[in-house]
Amino acid sequence: MGREFTEQNFLRVSDELEEINRVFEEDIDEVLVDNPDYPRIWLPPDRKIRLWSVPRTTAEFLRTQVLIKRPPTILELGTSAGYSALWMAAGAREYGGKVYTVEVARPKSDWAAENFEEARLGQTIFQYVGWAEDILRRSWRGDTDFVFLDADKPNYLKYMQLLEPYLTEGAVIIADNALDYGDLMQDYLNYITTSPDYYSYLLRIDHGLMISVKLR
Ligand SMILES: C[S@@+](CC[C@H](N)C(=O)[O-])C[C@H]1O[C@@H](n2cnc3c(N)ncnc32)[C@H](O)[C@@H]1O
Repeated sequence: MGREFTEQNFLRVSDELEEINRVFEEDIDEVLVDNPDYPRIWLPPDRKIRLWSVPRTTAEFLRTQVLIKRPPTILELGTSAGYSALWMAAGAREYGGKVYTVEVARPKSDWAAENFEEARLGQTIFQYVGWAEDILRRSWRGDTDFVFLDADKPNYLKYMQLLEPYLTEGAVIIADNALDYGDLMQDYLNYITTSPDYYSYLLRIDHGLMISVKLR
């Protein structure tokens, strides 16, 4: 197969990841036996590690938003195996935009890297491995036009505060899980929906996308 991006090949990689997302499940206590360095990420009460990829509808929506807005710089917090990054990058490659994505679990980040190459999107996506807070404090600089928040829910507000100096006018911030984990990010939702600097709209699809546009 050639090295060029094709929609058909991209959809094949996407389909494979959707299938893996349905079945992948690891018990954190078992993972820690073989891999004591596995990062202590926030986990649901069943203590299972999953891919937690966004549903296909959300992925298609993200790609569409990217194509409408054409943001030069897209930042994602929470790569997992790369599913949502792939979909945003499939939009961004059309106009030369770049997707930067952050993941603290190296096994997932390595897996994502393979998927990016397999989908021929390795030139469009740039990965950071580490805690989102550390990356934002130490490494993230420069104009940011589009953000997809999909890492640990309780820290969305902190991430937003760290990002605010870099957000361009008209920047779009999409926060996932506003419906199913809204209670964990209530401080973020309160902030973003009451600040006069943002226009926000809760899109009630899948897990709930809080979409905010920076007005000034
Ligand atoms: C919901 S999943 C991301 C799914 C991905 N956006 C997709 O749709 O394909 C959240 C990911 O964030 C990672 N994560 C959790 N807390 C983190 C943190 N503080 N810093 C960086 N990554 C984190 C988890 O390891 C997990 O892979």
